[in-house]
Formats: sequence, C-alpha cells, structure tokens
Amino acid sequence: MAFPETRLRRLRKTELLRDMIRETHVSLDDLIMPLFVCPGTDVKIPISSMPGNFQLSVNLLVEECKSLWAMGIRSVLLFGIPESKDEHGHVACVADGIVQKAMRAIKAELPDMMLVADVCNCEYTTHGHCGTIVDGDVHNDLTLETLAKQSVSLAESGADVIAPSDMMDGRVAMIREALDDNGFYNIPIMAYSAKYASAFYGPFREAAESAPQFGNRATYQMDPANSNEALREIAEDLMEGADFVMVKPALSYLDVIRRAKDNYNIPIVAYNVSGEFSMVKAAAANGWIDEDRIIKEILTSIKRAGADIIITYHAPQMAAILKKEQQ
Ligand code: PBG
Repeated sequence: MAFPETRLRRLRKTELLRDMIRETHVSLDDLIMPLFVCPGTDVKIPISSMPGNFQLSVNLLVEECKSLWAMGIRSVLLFGIPESKDEHGHVACVADGIVQKAMRAIKAELPDMMLVADVCNCEYTTHGHCGTIVDGDVHNDLTLETLAKQSVSLAESGADVIAPSDMMDGRVAMIREALDDNGFYNIPIMAYSAKYASAFYGPFREAAESAPQFGNRATYQMDPANSNEALREIAEDLMEGADFVMVKPALSYLDVIRRAKDNYNIPIVAYNVSGEFSMVKAAAANGWIDEDRIIKEILTSIKRAGADIIITYHAPQMAAILKKEQQ
C-alpha cells in the first residue's frame, strides 16, 4: 500500500496519538549529572564557560546533591580540583583526596545517591596529561598503576561505580583486578571506551583545571575520524570486564552510539560533554534558540541513537522541563 491509502500524517493528527506512538522517552533515571568539587568551605566559584555550573567545596557540593536528589536526579559523576598536583597524580590515590572526601560527605547525608567516580590523572598532574610522562608522552603501563590505586581508594571512600576516562590500554582489566583483590567485586566499571580527542572538551578543562601544559591528547584519545576503531575499543573493554561502555562526546558521534548499540548487548552510556552544553547556553543567551526545546531534542536524539544512559550538565534543567510537562 502506498499513497493515497497510506497517509503517515494520520498518526500525527492529535496530541494523544503523537504521545501514544512516541518511540523514545528521556527519564530522569537515565541521567547522570557531573559535578566539580574543590578545596575549602563555602566555596562556590562559577565556571564562566559553563553557565550554571560551579566548582563547589565539599559542604556546598553536599547541598547541591540534596537539591538534585529532590528533583529526581539520583546519580552524579564527580571530578576533583585538588589542593596540589604532582607528576604522577598520586594526590588522587589517597583517602584524604578531594573526591574521596566529597564522596564520604555525600554518602553520610544521602546514602542512596549513586556516586560515579571519574578515574583519570589529568586533574591531578602538574602537566595536565592523563598519566605518567616518559620521554614526552604518557607511559601506558606505568599509568595503569596509579589508575588502579585511584580506583581502589575511590571505592573505599564510597564510589558506587568506577569510570576510567584516561584511554590507556588495559586499564579496565587492571582496575577490575585491583577492585576484586580488595573485595570490591560488586563495584561496576563504566569504561569511557570510545573517547575521542575532541575540541568539545574545551570548557571542561577550565572547569577542572586540567588542560595539558604541552602537546595534546592525540596519542591516547581517539581520532574523531574513526568509528571502526571505536568498536575495537569497546570490544577490548568488554573482554577486560567493563560493565558499561561509553561513547564521548555524544552529538557529533551519534553514529558511533548507534553502532555500539547494534553490535553489543550492554548498557551504552553517552557523555553530552561541556562544549555541547556551552554552545546551547551561548545560543540561548543570545536569544537564537528555544533552550528548553533544544535540550529536550538533544537528549532525546542521544537516546534515539541508542544510548541507555546520558551524562549531561543539562540534567537539572531537564528535570524542570519534565516537571513542567506533567503540570
Ligand atoms: C578527564 C575527562 C575529560 C572530560 C571528562 N573526563 C577531559 C579530557 O579528556 O580532556 C571531558 C568532559 C566534558 O568536556 O564535559 N580525562
């Protein structure tokens, strides 16, 4: 059957019909909100390139988590801005590290909040690279040692999920073994599997004070031109024991998300990164777009592409949008 018997507009005729045949829904259960924690008390430093986001000291971070929880956002991803940095990122591997402290404080007030710990060295090294430098480049196997230590320390401080974002080869296996050896066999690994060397991370590097001091991340993060390679990265992480796999950034990589979903039967996470967020904010501030509609469309498209879970700075606004719709 074809036109005129077939008329696809029939099913768009009323709002009720459109609601009924809608294929993709974004729910607050799908969203993870990233937060930045810094030293001090009562510190709230605006991140100028990411309007509405702040570096928060532990006490204010706990308040922020309470407000997210009240809105229905029950998962957060934590990044730390440490008091001091060192060559290897050892400051991230100790019980009184900034994220460790933050997690204990959140758990004391909100024991059920899901704490995802980003595991990487770039916020903790003096040079801003994601691992230990040897001969001008990040040394893979030496970096695995600090990543494993950092992961165990974070698990000891209350992390519910360990999320390595460093892109070293073999990190998932190394972290899995270290977690298991320390009794954390029930803590899942959310691997940043297909993480691209992307200009969309620009605002984040201001937020986390983690810009590389020389060179770039192209020897460890992926070339934006590749998607077959993304499937190899995912396959490798699954063999090493990843429980979730991630594609990052999201919007310029919706095809990669779809290929991941079609090829692997595992929860797919998409990271709607800082640059994607800030572009929306900037356009909205200029009155060029309808911010709420754009946010909903973006998050819906990431799910439609195949993501089960979305890490997004838009999470609180999406909560407000969904609430408004229910009224
Ligand atoms: C750490 C890390 C980065 C992001 C998440 N974890 C930055 C980077 O790789 O340079 C980016 C997140 C964002 O842009 O929102 N390696």
